Amino acid sequence: MNTQLLNPNEIETAAAIIKSGGLVGIPTETVYGLGANGLNPLAVRSIFQAKGRPQDNPLILHIPDASWLETYCEDIPESAWRLARRFWPGPLTMILRCKERSPEELEALKNGPVCSLTHFGSRIIPDVVTAGLDTVGMRCPAHSMCRDIIAAAGVPVAAPSGNTSGRPSPTTAQHMLDDMDGKIDAILDGGDCQVGVESTIVDLTCRPPRLLRPGGIPLEELLDLLPDIELDPAVVRQMAEGEKPRAPGMKYRHYAPRAPVTVVKGPPVRSAEYILDHLTDSSWEGVICFNEFAHWYPGYLVEQLGGAVDTWEQARRLFRALRAMDEAGVKHIWAQCPDDTGMGLAVVNRLSKASGFHIVDA
Ligand code: TXA
Ligand code: MG
Repeated sequence: MNTQLLNPNEIETAAAIIKSGGLVGIPTETVYGLGANGLNPLAVRSIFQAKGRPQDNPLILHIPDASWLETYCEDIPESAWRLARRFWPGPLTMILRCKERSPEELEALKNGPVCSLTHFGSRIIPDVVTAGLDTVGMRCPAHSMCRDIIAAAGVPVAAPSGNTSGRPSPTTAQHMLDDMDGKIDAILDGGDCQVGVESTIVDLTCRPPRLLRPGGIPLEELLDLLPDIELDPAVVRQMAEGEKPRAPGMKYRHYAPRAPVTVVKGPPVRSAEYILDHLTDSSWEGVICFNEFAHWYPGYLVEQLGGAVDTWEQARRLFRALRAMDEAGVKHIWAQCPDDTGMGLAVVNRLSKASGFHIVDA
């Protein structure tokens, strides 16, 4: 398959491919997504194939505005509308209850071609999107081209991050092409992603509401509207054997470059010193560090993450830095880690997962 690179003025082309069951790389403010018609089970199945993604890991649906929620979700709590008013369009995904099909629709499916019901399931959103769960992640992205594509397609767009499963998420069209060339129909180049880490996921189907994945909306900002929100344990520690996180995706090794990563926590000067003390060979070790310390490691491949306290810049650059390490072919990566306030929580989470929770405290 020849993967076309589309310009921002080819929104209609992207929408037409999605409508007809194809796969399109779509720009969002967080990371590039791999989009398909979320109501077409066959199209959605091909997302899993292109990514090599496990079937038990559900996808989220992207919509152009909050008014679409009622078509696909039920029992929507008041808090969801408040969150949508405050944070949408923006990097927030809400887990809500899926709408069930009406008895008439179910009957029609039962009497349709043999496979209709197993194909589509008893809910309006096909089971292949939700991995059979009765809940669904809904997100309204801040990237205007992304919303334009969805609106032109006229269907909710199922889209995981556009990386090959397990690899760092793509924050440029080129990164997505690196992973997906020849496997998907097109990628619309909407420029570099402004947030750089994925959306924050909040589960509103449980009480108290639960933060399943830290991301582009910091926890501190959510507390205003959800004062009793709890952190899912999968956010901060590795799941034990057999333990099931509420976001199925959180159990997989993730965001990982090919080389093993050692994450170094602690005050910036201390973690920089720790790395300096432990580096042995510039021919195969690389360092991801805060800008202030970039000159500490002459001869080594260094990727600057951003200023030591600028966690927004760190989030924006993190996946790019991990990919750059891979391109250079380093065999071991040392990474400085911020503290977990503000966007730091998402940066710490992605670094921890990239390292398989190989974390040392300086
Ligand atoms: O920023 C983002 O959210 C990007 C862009 C493309 O929108 N998308 C993204 O999708 O990160 P993905 O599939 O890479 O991550 C979605 C996460 C997975 O960990 C999945 O397990 C979880 O959301 N998830 C999806 N549906 C869920 C549900 N019903 N309940 C709990 N977790 C769910
Ligand atoms: Mg992903």
